[in-house]
Amino acid sequence: MNDKSIQSKFLLNPDINYLNHGSFGACPKDIFDDYQQWQLRLERDPYQFFLDTGQQELERSKQALANYINCAVEDLIYIPNPTTGINMVVKNLNLQPGDEILTTNQEYGGIDRTWDYYCKQTGAQIIRQEIKFPLSFKEEFLRQFWKGKTDRTKYIFLSQLTSSTGLIFPVKEICARAKQLGITTIIDGAHIPGHIPLDLADLDADIYVGACHKWMLAPKGNSFLYVKKELQPQMDPLIVSWGYDAKEPSESQFQDYHQFNGTVDYAAYLTTPACIKFREDNQWEERSKKCRDLLKHYYPIIAKELESNVICALTDDFLGQFCSVPIKSPDHKKLKSTLYNEYKIEALVTFCGYEMFLRVSFQAYNNEENIEDIINAIKKIKASTNLLS
Ligand SMILES: Cc1ncc(COP(=O)(O)O)c(C=O)c1O
Repeated sequence: MNDKSIQSKFLLNPDINYLNHGSFGACPKDIFDDYQQWQLRLERDPYQFFLDTGQQELERSKQALANYINCAVEDLIYIPNPTTGINMVVKNLNLQPGDEILTTNQEYGGIDRTWDYYCKQTGAQIIRQEIKFPLSFKEEFLRQFWKGKTDRTKYIFLSQLTSSTGLIFPVKEICARAKQLGITTIIDGAHIPGHIPLDLADLDADIYVGACHKWMLAPKGNSFLYVKKELQPQMDPLIVSWGYDAKEPSESQFQDYHQFNGTVDYAAYLTTPACIKFREDNQWEERSKKCRDLLKHYYPIIAKELESNVICALTDDFLGQFCSVPIKSPDHKKLKSTLYNEYKIEALVTFCGYEMFLRVSFQAYNNEENIEDIINAIKKIKASTNLLS
């Protein structure tokens, strides 16, 4: 069980039972202080900071991140969020009529729209392979996923951990086979850094996007894009600035083209070392493990209370620190607002296609009592409303 002292390290409103770390993360006070210190330094001496000291700090922070996720620092750029990173990538794929992108029916809605937009523009086709529940073994996923491959499959796009269904997908196995088949892999790791171990060299994806502002506990606006060296020349800047046709180019066109996008507050990028330190100082790995254990215990209990089922085996192959239960409700917005307004519980009611889910996140600031509270709230909502029928 995680102790109350951890909760007091966060800025979260203590009156709310916050079971939705997955949506926008939550930032501890120490890390937020670090963020504000960077902002102060910037405002005290903007010119020097933007072009000199801040840039050196940015390199240091990027190196810390590269060490943390095991990749070469020059293959990594900071971006504000995964949506930006995936847009940069998709725009540069030079999609042609008839090209196919193989993905699943469980991807994040905002990014589904990115693909739809560029497919419509280019005549490429996105194949959303249906993945059926329950998943007991990785092999079941792999069998279902590869059914979507054809001779026209040029790209694979896959979440490593899905948003609405909360499932870890076996991306290492997918990347290995895709490499043999000559298919480029683009992995959406929005939920991965700080959540499950990430070793980019071992994973061997061609392109990887991750967020630090979710499970790594960074303030909002700290994310990254990794692109393998061979593919970097293909990545034109989404925002064209000083790094294009640079007067003093660095050794990396990828860095020149993408890292400087005009005047923006990049203080969030500089907090990565503070995030890593916070995690070490507070034994975060151990606390995350406790969360995963708690989740495995409570996932079937929550599902039973909702008169539903778990959607995967209760193993680390599929589950991290959030789980989703299929639910039925005549009014999902009312269900969400009832949980929040009447029971002071923040938990996500979401959709995968037409299927509705209640997603519960477990972070170190949550304990058994918080989970029992949502179970009791479900009981009361069932007894007093039709919102769960
Ligand atoms: C799987 C997945 N991909 C992409 C995103 C987009 O992240 P952002 O809004 O930070 O760009 C999210 C957001 O929750 C997500 O869950």
